[in-house]
Amino acid sequence: MSTFTAKALAAFWLLGGAAAALAKPPMTPLQRGRYLIQTAGCNDCHTPGYGPNNGQVSEKLWLTGDALGWSGPWGTTYATNLRLLLAGMSEQQWLRHARRMEPRPPMPWFNVRAMSDRDLKAIYAYTRSLGAAGAPAPAYVPPGGTVTGPVVRFPQ
Ligand code: HEC
Repeated sequence: MSTFTAKALAAFWLLGGAAAALAKPPMTPLQRGRYLIQTAGCNDCHTPGYGPNNGQVSEKLWLTGDALGWSGPWGTTYATNLRLLLAGMSEQQWLRHARRMEPRPPMPWFNVRAMSDRDLKAIYAYTRSLGAAGAPAPAYVPPGGTVTGPVVRFPQ
């Protein structure tokens, strides 16, 4: 292949890629919410069996909370059923909550707080679109309390 042909092909390919990127419609808030839930790690803790199954969990179960306990100096926490939590909140209440909440470990609340309003609204829209489902996660157990069921233990 001549250098000219190679350059022409490369230019064609680059332009084609740029055109394809421009032509791609932006994500809707629902798509963006789903994308964030999947990539920001929310499913890892808030969806039952998500990690152990390499993310292969039916979307019907996403964000329904988990009965796996997280034990450490703070006691034992369980990832909240976010479908039920958000079903009881307006978008405005969610924005306020997301900015002010300081749940116990290992919830990375500081990551949620750092999200833009646009992203928090997308998460709200997507989670609400899934609908209220599942049961509330087990109640928090203070340090020294009796825990039944599986737990992940953090070092003291
Ligand atoms: C490492 C595990 C983990 C990850 C990752 C995680 N969470 Fe949590 N989350 C928890 C646990 C555990 C709780 C319950 C904490 C408690 O009982 O105080 C919780 C609680 C919450 C709550 C409820 C707080 C309240 O006031 O009741 C919200 C909202 C929440 N998480 C949203 C998210 C979102 C959104 C993401 C993704 C960006 C996420 N979480 C990622 C473990 C996690």
